[in-house]
Amino acid sequence: MKVLKGRFEKETDLEAHAFNSSIGVDFRLYEVDIKGSLVHSEMLFRQGIISKEDFEKITKGLLTILKDIKEGALTIDYGAEDIHMFVEEELTKRVGDAGKRLHTSRSRNDQVALDVKLYTREKCKEIIKLLFNLEDVLIDLAKDNLDTIMPGYTHLQIAQPVTLAHHLMAYVQMIKRDIERFKDAYLRMSTCPLGAGALATTTYNIDRDFTAKNLGFDSPTLNSMDSVSDRDHVLEILFNISTFMMHLSRFSEEIILFASQEFAFISLDEAYSTGSSIMPQKKNPDMAELIRGKCARVYGNLNGAMTMLKGIPLCYNKDMQEDKVYLFDSVDTCILATKVFMGMVKTMKPNIERMNEMAHKGFINATDMADYLVKKGLAFRDAYKITGELVRYCIDKSKSLNELDLSELKTFSPLFEEDVYKYIDLNYILAGRKIFGGPAPEAVKKQIEITEGDLKKLKKLVD
Ligand code: ARG
Repeated sequence: MKVLKGRFEKETDLEAHAFNSSIGVDFRLYEVDIKGSLVHSEMLFRQGIISKEDFEKITKGLLTILKDIKEGALTIDYGAEDIHMFVEEELTKRVGDAGKRLHTSRSRNDQVALDVKLYTREKCKEIIKLLFNLEDVLIDLAKDNLDTIMPGYTHLQIAQPVTLAHHLMAYVQMIKRDIERFKDAYLRMSTCPLGAGALATTTYNIDRDFTAKNLGFDSPTLNSMDSVSDRDHVLEILFNISTFMMHLSRFSEEIILFASQEFAFISLDEAYSTGSSIMPQKKNPDMAELIRGKCARVYGNLNGAMTMLKGIPLCYNKDMQEDKVYLFDSVDTCILATKVFMGMVKTMKPNIERMNEMAHKGFINATDMADYLVKKGLAFRDAYKITGELVRYCIDKSKSLNELDLSELKTFSPLFEEDVYKYIDLNYILAGRKIFGGPAPEAVKKQIEITEGDLKKLKKLVD
C-alpha cells in the first residue's frame, strides 16, 4: 500500500514492494526509532513548531506503541515499507492529525542514520560488557593453572614449556585489545545526525543540541551531508567483531585440537558437545567448530558492507538499506558465539597429567641444554650444534635428553657436569623464565595483576 501518496497515481508493483521493503529486517529498530521520535517531538514543541497538545498526543501514542510491540499486542505489518513508516502510520491511526506532524523538519534519511547509530552504540556497549565477562572467565582459569605445565608450540611442533595460565593469558591480551577497539569506536559514535534532514537540514528553527544531548550524544554532527552518508560506525563495529571473532576462532581451533584423542589436553562438558547420528562413541566439539565457521560469516558481513558503500555518491542512496542486514547478523552472531564460548570454557576440564606428559616429549628442553653449555663458556652456535647432535643421538637410541647419563653426555662435550640435570628440568626451566611477559608462575602472576588493573581502568571509561 502506498502511504507516501501525492506524486504517485499507481500502487507499487507487489514484487517491487517486497524487494524495496526492509521491515522484515529493521523491525528490531522499533525501540530506538521511538526513542528518537520522542525526543524529536519534544524538541518540536519546545521550539514552538508543534503545539503542546500535539506533543502530548504524540508522546502518549508512541509510548503505547512501544508497550504494545514489547508485549506482543502489536505485530509486524509486512505491508509497511520499513519500521519508520510503520511507527508513523500506527501513530497516525492512534492519535490522528498529531501523528502527521511528527515528521516535520525530519527526513527518513536522518531518522534511519540516527536509529542505526543508536543501535550500534547500544550493541557496542553490550558487546564490551560481554567481553569483560569473558576476560573474568579466562583470568579465573589462568589463576587456577599458574603451575600447570604444558608444551608451547611453534609450527604446531613442541617448542618450549609454558603453563596453561600463560597460554590462556595470551588470549586475555587479545580480548583486552578488542575491548579497547570497541571502546574507541564507541567514543567516535558520539555525534547525532538528527536534524540533517534529507541532506541539507531545514528552515525550521530546530534545536539540534537538545536532541543530541537528550539522545545520549555529545553533540550534533557538523556536516548535514556527511551525517546522512556516513556509516563508518557500522564498518567499525563490523571490523571489531571480525577481529574479536578471529581471536575466538583461533582459540576454538585449539579447543578442537586439544579435545582430540591425540592431544587429550582438555575434555569438553557434555552440555557443549554433540553426538554422531551413526557413531555411538562420538563426542564432537561442534560449538567450537561453529564459532570457527561463523567467523567467516562476520568477515563476509564486513566485506559486504565495505563493498556496498564504496561506490555510492553523497548522500542517502537505497543501497544503504542493506547495512542493517550485515550489521544485525554480525551483532547477533558475535553475542551468541561469545555466550556459548564462555559456557564451553567455564565447563571444560583441563587434563593436567596429560599436558605434563606431553611437555616432557619433543626434546622440549633442548634450548635450555644449549643455554647450559653457553653458561659453561661455549659460544651459542657451538652449543646449539652439540645439542642438535645430542638430539639426533637420542632419536636413534629412543631416549629423552634427561635419560642420557653423564658419561654419554661427556662424549659430546667435556663441559657437561652433574648439574646439567637440574638445568634441563621443566620446573627449573619455567621458573627461570621470569622475565617480564614470560611464562614463569611468578611472571604470570604479575601479568595477571597488571591486566586486571588495565581492565579496571577500561571499565571505568565504559560505565
Ligand atoms: N528503510 C530505509 C533504510 O533502511 C530508510 C531510509 C529511506 N529513505 C529514503 N529516502 N528512501 O535505509
